[in-house]
Amino acid sequence: MRTPILAGNWKMNTNLASATELVNAMKNDLSQLAANGNVHVVLCPPFPYLARVNELTRGTGIQVGAQNMYYELKGAFTGEVAPAMLVDFAEYVIIGHSERRQIFHESDEVVNKKIHAALANDLKPIVCCGEALETYENGETDVWVRGQIHAAMQGLSADQVRGLVIAYEPIWAIGTGKAATGAGANAVIGISIRGALADLYGEDVAQSVRVQYGGSVTAKNIDEFIVQPDIDGALVGGASLKADEFIAICRAGLKKNS
Ligand code: PGA
Repeated sequence: MRTPILAGNWKMNTNLASATELVNAMKNDLSQLAANGNVHVVLCPPFPYLARVNELTRGTGIQVGAQNMYYELKGAFTGEVAPAMLVDFAEYVIIGHSERRQIFHESDEVVNKKIHAALANDLKPIVCCGEALETYENGETDVWVRGQIHAAMQGLSADQVRGLVIAYEPIWAIGTGKAATGAGANAVIGISIRGALADLYGEDVAQSVRVQYGGSVTAKNIDEFIVQPDIDGALVGGASLKADEFIAICRAGLKKNS
């Protein structure tokens, strides 16, 4: 059984005061949810607040994730953050978010190197994939997403792949208020993502990897996604900045295996 995982990607939002306030507003409810182990809850604040969020959530069962990292271990890489710098504060790291790929030109090769570096440093990658609007409209989603999965998995062993979380985030659904449909997202995840994983590692591995949906997830539409057999949770942007809404989204995770 795959434990549902709900992650809040705060992106480049909050400051020290509001990050603290947000965690304090969600802490009790989220820790109750996380305590029984039936759902995993992850908060991904900006780098400067990782230490604070880690401190505030320690012992609660709420987990912390970084939004990015570099693949080199140390050295002359001004402005970058190495995987080993994150492990004291974070358990997860988001890799290959479409905003990183599009705005910061991260290639499939870079994404793959980052996954290797994260795993080598005991961080659990949340690997993002997803197609642009044009690709979607041209009916090329399957080919695109399979290609991203193949590229991201280069050189990874089956055991490493089992430990990954993958987030399917169609770019046209991110921050647009125009979410995919539950059935549509489930089809891409089941056919393209698990299909690609099955081709590479066999059906058993494909069925053990947790795959989230991301893109305009709200408290209102989460049920539509969580009930889908191939969707194991959500990567939530905007709605994770509102305490009550994110709590409601995480609570929906409990419906997954009930
Ligand atoms: P959104 O962002 O929920 O604001 O659409 C999702 C994401 O980019 O992870």
